[in-house]
Amino acid sequence: MMAKDVEQLKAEAGIAAAAFVKEGMKVGLGTGSTVKYTVIELGRRVAEGLNIMGVPTSIATRDLALEVGITLIELSEVEGLDIVIDGADEFDPEFQLIKGGGGALLREKIVAQASNAMIVVADERKQVQTLGAFSIPIEVTPFSWQETRRQIERILKCQVILRNGDVEKLGDVKIEGGAFATDNGNLILDAQCGATIDNPIATEKTLQGLAGVCEVGLFNNICDMVILAGNDGIKTLTKPDGRLSS
Ligand code: A5P
Repeated sequence: MMAKDVEQLKAEAGIAAAAFVKEGMKVGLGTGSTVKYTVIELGRRVAEGLNIMGVPTSIATRDLALEVGITLIELSEVEGLDIVIDGADEFDPEFQLIKGGGGALLREKIVAQASNAMIVVADERKQVQTLGAFSIPIEVTPFSWQETRRQIERILKCQVILRNGDVEKLGDVKIEGGAFATDNGNLILDAQCGATIDNPIATEKTLQGLAGVCEVGLFNNICDMVILAGNDGIKTLTKPDGRLSS
């Protein structure tokens, strides 16, 4: 059998997840190149009569959701969401995640936290034994980001780099060479730890304790299911003690 290309795997995982969205649900809509297929498939189902409401996790997803005809609501208008579907950069055997490769981690975590369950859509490259080969994205305030970076480097004992982009100035902070700006007007630092994050809960907690850190791209104890696309088809991995088990 010919190997499927990554785009095909992303599409298969993304489309499969849409089946978990039922009539009347309030749904968190993740960000990225895998979950975009879920959003498009949900749009197709809405056109066929499915009635749902979505909360997007980024401006890009908001625009896509509107384009495919999904009704959007504000998180503040509702008491929580039924489910969120989102991508991930890595997941480990405990269903702990690295997210934020697209820079949307803060909104993604707020929406995930408001949801009764979380489904991750991924291709098999994202499955790892130990997190960290993919750099951990950390959203930080522009003010004194160099000092925040130093603090993070001291804690993690690894190189931390500013994510590049087109923005030269954020608020009153001038950034030489340009930087990536999040939807919230912050910066992203990528921590290049290597596959060494064997206690992601402790790492997340320590980093969250630093002033200047807005959010950490470690999503712990929040993912209940991974829909994983590989060359042999789709696997649905359910966290044994998660909110979607039974
Ligand atoms: C966006 O900020 C991220 O958290 C994405 O969900 C994650 O990077 C996975 O994206 P892809 O599906 O594009 O790999």
